[in-house]
Amino acid sequence: MLFIGIDLGTSSVKLLLMDESGAIKNIVSKEYPLSFPKPGWSEQSPYDWYDRTIEGLGELIEGYDKNDVRGISFGGQMHGLVALDENDEVIRPAILWNDGRTGAEVDYLNNDIGKARLTELTGNIAFAGFTAPKILWMKKNEPDDFARIKKIMLPKDYIAYRLSGTFCTDYSDASGMLLLDVKNKCWSKEMIDICGISEEQLPRLYESYDKVGTLLPEIASKLGLSEDVVIAAGAGDNAAAAVGMGVAGDGSCNISLGTSGTLFIASKSYGVDPNNALHSFDHADGTYHLMGCMLSAASCNKWWMDEIIADKDYAGAQKDITDDKLGENHVYFLPYLMGERSPHNDPDARGCFIGLSMENTRADMTQAVLEGVAFAFKDMLRAAHQAGARPSRSFVCGGGAKSPLWQKIIANVLDLSLDIPENEEGPSMGGAMLAMVAAGVYDSVEAAARAIVKVRGTLDPDPALVKKYEKKYEEYVKLYPALKDSFKSL
Ligand code: XUL
Repeated sequence: MLFIGIDLGTSSVKLLLMDESGAIKNIVSKEYPLSFPKPGWSEQSPYDWYDRTIEGLGELIEGYDKNDVRGISFGGQMHGLVALDENDEVIRPAILWNDGRTGAEVDYLNNDIGKARLTELTGNIAFAGFTAPKILWMKKNEPDDFARIKKIMLPKDYIAYRLSGTFCTDYSDASGMLLLDVKNKCWSKEMIDICGISEEQLPRLYESYDKVGTLLPEIASKLGLSEDVVIAAGAGDNAAAAVGMGVAGDGSCNISLGTSGTLFIASKSYGVDPNNALHSFDHADGTYHLMGCMLSAASCNKWWMDEIIADKDYAGAQKDITDDKLGENHVYFLPYLMGERSPHNDPDARGCFIGLSMENTRADMTQAVLEGVAFAFKDMLRAAHQAGARPSRSFVCGGGAKSPLWQKIIANVLDLSLDIPENEEGPSMGGAMLAMVAAGVYDSVEAAARAIVKVRGTLDPDPALVKKYEKKYEEYVKLYPALKDSFKSL
């Protein structure tokens, strides 16, 4: 039997073909453009997502017995606003999770409705990337388009809709809309009213591992697949990544070092961060989680390598950063290239290098980028400690996790043992596993994880280096407050 996991990411869609024992048969990735029409805005075309997904699916199953494919599911970039009209046409480009245009709407929600009320209704406060502020933004700034909205959905739900015809979402992804009562797993009627929409415009809610339908006949015949292929609801990419790492509702932790950086702590019971620095969301295994999200993580290094120093040799650029250099760097980097979510909730924050002098090299700056991202993870870990969650170890996944140097920096800055999985394909692997549960191969997400997820090794922090990084972090934490006001006027 074969299962497909689709990770609808920000730079590309990654598709993974896996058998029920967890053996990966094929991986295909298809890129699509990301546009920044104004500073702080971030948009993408849902048609690009769909076209590249269909192309990728064709390539993924080429040469395999198509009758063996039994299920498809998803991990998808969260929070994006996809709006369809009465003909199911996309009304405007999707407004993505890292878009910062909704400052005024976030202020209205957090100050006028109030953080306490929002938390009672949804478990969360408003952040610029969340879906509800975007709906309010569209209502105010694009009223004609707003009036044409028949369906509101999240990015991966658009793909599920096109593949299965079912207008659906899952609890983990819906949690990031600020429209879901996360604790009770239902839409919040009050939030729906506040946004000026109706429940009919929202998708039906499912558990991530629920079957929502089967492949539509025309897609099945186009791809040469059976019409019985099960489509499961899937999950937000972080919950799907956690499934792919075997992080179930027991306090275990996953760090995702992708375009965004997330610290994901699973929990059997519902809980809210009293400081609202971390999100309180449903998990894809039926439980809950707390999560911090930084908006630019591996993307900081990608930006630095691709745009600034124009060097595609990522490993080569890190080879001069030898062990003796760790904990000794005097250059700091603030990773706020798209503003910041956790813990600052500040769409105006911006990236910067601080502490440069004539003796500094390109390698010092590369090191500062990797360390700056790790320090921002420490901000989120501190927020987790304040909320009473104290993981002592974590899994790590995502493109950035392929760098052994970055793994080492993160383990020592966070003072956490890192479990390194056999592969870092978090969300697509989680997607395939959710499809297996929906198809009845495994009874639960936990059972699928027990059977499939394998750890390659563990990286323990070195106490001497942890001490050095503690000192560096003390300097780092002073920088954002010192620059906060300047960021606003920049
Ligand atoms: C999580 C978040 C990001 C996106 C990235 O809250 O916004 O991790 O899901 O795809």
